[in-house]
Amino acid sequence: MRSFSPEPVPLDDIRKAIKLAQKAPSVCNRQGSRVYCFQNAMDALKWQPGNRGFGDRASRALVVTADLQAFSGAGERNQCWIDGGMFAMSVIYALHALGYGTCPLAWSQRGHFDRKARHALGIPDSEVIIMMIAVGSLPEEFDVAFSQRLDIDGVLVER
Ligand SMILES: Cc1cc2nc3c(=O)[nH]c(=O)nc-3n(C[C@H](O)[C@H](O)[C@H](O)COP(=O)(O)O)c2cc1C
Repeated sequence: MRSFSPEPVPLDDIRKAIKLAQKAPSVCNRQGSRVYCFQNAMDALKWQPGNRGFGDRASRALVVTADLQAFSGAGERNQCWIDGGMFAMSVIYALHALGYGTCPLAWSQRGHFDRKARHALGIPDSEVIIMMIAVGSLPEEFDVAFSQRLDIDGVLVER
């Protein structure tokens, strides 16, 4: 969703959604995911280039992170992205279930910018940003992008 109405999303509902998202599985139940909720969405979204044209209408911005202290050894070097990604999707589903619109926002930044942004956003050095999520109330009527999916046969391999 990239259309939002001006009604603010109550912080209690954000809390409810995060509690629901905590049902997401994680490796050995380590629960390394964290969420920073910015009540003024643009405080966080100004660091993310992919929300231009709609981010300023979002009510809240979530920054989903993974705490690397939850993982150990070289073998788990990518686990943060997996656990964090599953958690972020759960946040999106939970907010959708509560009737709000969301847009996941990529965090594909180079090291220097990433460090600068994390410092400005108050995110500890032990955490990596998985993605941002713009959250807002939905207007009565709005346009939604029709994002076509691949044919099932290009995705599911039956052996
Ligand atoms: C990790 C991730 C990052 C994304 N980043 C952006 C973004 O920066 N800006 C944006 O407008 N949409 C972003 N999207 C949304 C995708 O463009 C969208 O999910 C995709 O086009 C499929 O459309 P649908 O979700 O409406 O079905 C992102 C989605 C994911 C999963």
